[in-house]
Amino acid sequence: MPQTEKTFPRWIPLLGGLLGSTTCGLLLYAFSVFIRPLQAQFGWTVPEVAMAYALICLIFGLMTFPAGRLSDKYGSRKVVLVGGIIMAFGFFMVSTITPPDPAVIAAGGEAARAAGKTPLYLLYLYYGVIAGFGGGCVYLPPIATAPKWWPDKRALATGFTVVGLGLGSFVMAPMATSMINHFGSALPVFKYVGITMLILVVIAALCLKEPPKGYKPKGWSAPVQLSSEGIVKCSRDYTYEETKKTAQFWLLWIAYFCGSFAGLMVIGLIAKHGIDAMTLVYRAKEGLDAAAIIPEDVAKGIAMSASLAPSTLAVFNAAVRIMVGPLADKMGTKKIFVALFVLQTAAMLVLFPAGKSMALLASCAGLIGWNYGAMFTLFPATLLQYYGPTNQGSNYGLLFTAWGVAGFCGPFFGGKLQAMTGSFFVPFIVSAAVLAVAVAILAALKAPEKIPA
Ligand code: 2OP
Repeated sequence: MPQTEKTFPRWIPLLGGLLGSTTCGLLLYAFSVFIRPLQAQFGWTVPEVAMAYALICLIFGLMTFPAGRLSDKYGSRKVVLVGGIIMAFGFFMVSTITPPDPAVIAAGGEAARAAGKTPLYLLYLYYGVIAGFGGGCVYLPPIATAPKWWPDKRALATGFTVVGLGLGSFVMAPMATSMINHFGSALPVFKYVGITMLILVVIAALCLKEPPKGYKPKGWSAPVQLSSEGIVKCSRDYTYEETKKTAQFWLLWIAYFCGSFAGLMVIGLIAKHGIDAMTLVYRAKEGLDAAAIIPEDVAKGIAMSASLAPSTLAVFNAAVRIMVGPLADKMGTKKIFVALFVLQTAAMLVLFPAGKSMALLASCAGLIGWNYGAMFTLFPATLLQYYGPTNQGSNYGLLFTAWGVAGFCGPFFGGKLQAMTGSFFVPFIVSAAVLAVAVAILAALKAPEKIPA
């Protein structure tokens, strides 16, 4: 029986995308809340724990490529189901890592470092490699499938399949924090959230199904394209091989890399920047030198004020993914892209001075979250406009590897530049410069020629 809206309502794949991307949000964006508790329990340094995050970004991003290819070939349900089970397994397995004897960790020194070594590699394996591998397989297929059910609102449908990244991380940060406080350890969070992920991802997979080829919703017909002589132009979608050969695809890859590099670099540093800048303001106001100890209640108040920045960033990062969809469906992506990348460059330039004030920092963070989150709707929507939906899984899977590479390099160079210069000024200026490259690329970009049917 052909799939119609009666036998398979087309909002169901949207729900599948929403649930699948929510599990990816649980997986990825709240990792910073685990850093301190894991350090305390295992004696690891911040860069050691942060490497697990860099690793998961890289593997997650690179896995989207085979996941997209497999989804185009075998359908999204199978890929999400298998990937989801692997992702939940990896996340759950972190809870089984045995912490070293607390007395050894408390004593510090070489013995503590040696005791923390094996568990550290297990964290990299379970979280970075296994969960990252599965996560990439969950993230990509719905982005390719849902817009095929919504040829009339492709960008909006894309937004639905990525909004969960924002929602999942928004829920996960406070939930994980209160669980850590309750259990006195981060490990049980991986157990309970791992089980929850498994349930969500199985439901997500069941909601996914490809429409019949050339599916059109009832009462809708594709807009007709006319040549300059007024003749109806018939075109077909690009194949994956043809897509890869266009210069536009690789220019989009570079722009995606630049936007993700800058965004991920700043997301990793923004709270710490706020704490440092507001502490400096307090010291100057009270006439304290750099060595003077800040009262505990003041330090806590500053940390609270600075934490408003990542929360605001997360809300805007989620909201924009849906809100930009209808706009992109109406006016195309190019003008929106250029405007948002220009705004992002400006936000990076003012971020350093903005750190001194809670309100300014939170506003800047909201703007950065808005511009960053929009990319995850606009890039796949641009590929759909340029190359059509038939091979979107393979096309977007390859494009998204830009995010994976940026996810590894951005936070790494951000941390290094900050450590080398002792200030956040240089990493933020580098982010602005990298974004300016993307502005130039996106402003010059033109859609590739349509391929005659
Ligand atoms: C996103 O936020 C995973 O970074 C990707 O959609």
